[in-house]
Amino acid sequence: MCGIVAYIGKKQAFPIVLKGLKRLEYRGYDSAGIAVLNGEALNMFKRSGKVANLEAYAMEHNTEGHAAIGHTRWATHGLPNDVNAHPHFSNDESIAVIHNGIIENYDTLKKKLITYGFTFQSETDTEVLVHLIDHIRKNDNLSIPEAVRRALHHVEGAYAIVVISKDNPNQLVAARKSSPLVVGIGNEGDFFLASDATPIIEYTKRVVYLNDEEIAVVDLNEGLRIFNIGNQEKTPFIQKLEMELEALEKGGYEHFMLKEIHEQPRSIQDCLRGRLNSNEGWVALRGLLDYETKMIQAKRLIIVACGTSWHAALVGEYLIEDLARINVEVEYASEFRYRNPIISENDVVIAISQSGETADTLAALELAKSKGATILGICNVVGSSISRVTDAGCYTHAGPEIGVASTKAFTAQVTVLTLMALSLAHKKGTISESAFHALLTEIEDIPGKVKEVLKSNSIIEKIAAEYAEAPNALYLGRGSSFPVALEGALKLKEISYIHAEGYPAAEMKHGPIALIDENMPVFVIATKGNSYEKVVSNIQEVKARKGKIIAIVTEGDVNVKEMADHVIEIPETHEYLVPLLATIPLQLLSYHIALMRGCNVDQPRNLAKSVTVE
Ligand code: G6P
Repeated sequence: MCGIVAYIGKKQAFPIVLKGLKRLEYRGYDSAGIAVLNGEALNMFKRSGKVANLEAYAMEHNTEGHAAIGHTRWATHGLPNDVNAHPHFSNDESIAVIHNGIIENYDTLKKKLITYGFTFQSETDTEVLVHLIDHIRKNDNLSIPEAVRRALHHVEGAYAIVVISKDNPNQLVAARKSSPLVVGIGNEGDFFLASDATPIIEYTKRVVYLNDEEIAVVDLNEGLRIFNIGNQEKTPFIQKLEMELEALEKGGYEHFMLKEIHEQPRSIQDCLRGRLNSNEGWVALRGLLDYETKMIQAKRLIIVACGTSWHAALVGEYLIEDLARINVEVEYASEFRYRNPIISENDVVIAISQSGETADTLAALELAKSKGATILGICNVVGSSISRVTDAGCYTHAGPEIGVASTKAFTAQVTVLTLMALSLAHKKGTISESAFHALLTEIEDIPGKVKEVLKSNSIIEKIAAEYAEAPNALYLGRGSSFPVALEGALKLKEISYIHAEGYPAAEMKHGPIALIDENMPVFVIATKGNSYEKVVSNIQEVKARKGKIIAIVTEGDVNVKEMADHVIEIPETHEYLVPLLATIPLQLLSYHIALMRGCNVDQPRNLAKSVTVE
């Protein structure tokens, strides 16, 4: 979390960095700050709260200058106030640093630096970096790049940093380890640095993704140089961004979340493109083709993920086990990495991550790799850290997701997992040809059916109005609709701050039923399929306790309609594909409820989209 952005070139740097921070605000919005180099002066502007606060504050000051570094913070060490906002100055105010990550040994470093006479202004871990660089530079009379390189040898933890200095006004120095950093090579001899490509895309499509423990020096006279902390020079690998600027704008929608919900017919279509053909009867995730035999022969597939991606993994578990008869285990990446799991070369570990940067997921993969497992990835962000460390993988192609609460990334992940399950089942021979063909045809119809579901938006808005003040909510589902219930509850919690829980419908009897009274809305996925009758019984149990039932049902259902307080119909589809449709109304319900409660839908409190700290 935290977003960093920097610019050096002929243009005015402040507006570019400010705009970049707005694009990165999804990574954290506790405070924002920019340091601008204007001739001899290194001017600092910092404000707690959103980037808009910083913008309002800076308007009253001179922000001119051709080099700047900026930061939007998700607080880890120290309160989200002006002082703890980045950038941080060296004591003589000649150097400033921005940082995304956590310096784990900051306390030891801080104590040492205090004995050398440095004074600390903030409570952040970051401030040790600037004093350490300053100390090494002055002590050994070194250039900033060399001082940064040596300083990083003393640092434990994760970092993406950019250093600006008065003494080298033509130069910015950046480095990364476990936190992402992209260098943009401008068209006018200028350079950009950012946590991801979104602040850069407007100016250039030529980027270099830094690798761990690499240092980049962008210099207006000497261009871009990259070396590692062992001081070996590296040839920059320049990549072309495929992303378009329009994808980062709201496109007429009031919020990114609403736009992203409505993009799902297209994002699912994009995810399917070129990966299946029902007429010809094939499905293929090309990035994984060479690993399918390994997956089929694996002792287990272990899927590691966090948050919404973990819910997608659970849907994947149901589908892969049922269709392909391969043993699947789903793990919270944060638990997996620390519980000394038993992993061998016979295991295949798959990470699912929208951002491809989640620290715990990345660490879980690295652990699996060190034990000899094959590691695969399902990511949305192209070029992200997870996509680069894995042996193979495939992208979800959902396009940039800006709203902090994940929507279209989830359905794209589920789409990939559905294709994976089908492909493995077909190869392994655990599915009949006719069932295989029927499912392929049905999958091709999903984008159109999602479009149909979205037409219920106004009905859903009316239902939302009835429950906007509820203090609690329960979500129930069975089979692969159970993870959909979890995801529905998470969406509501995240953006409306209503306490919500997802449960397997039958488990309700073992606890949550005690909470049910006339004030408790219970959202139930009650679509046609194997467990329909059982879910109907669960609905009756809720009704008997006067709970309010809001049911997602298959179009034309009459049974549940009679019992429920509200129903939301979704088109009929194969049971395996219900998660792709049933999720949509739950996303819309959360969106409308959050809006009615006056919550910030795109930037809910305390959350960040890309969790690059553990
Ligand atoms: C954060 C986000 C969630 C996301 C989770 C995992 O908590 O707010 O929306 O599901 O991280 O992120 P990933 O990028 O790994 O999918």
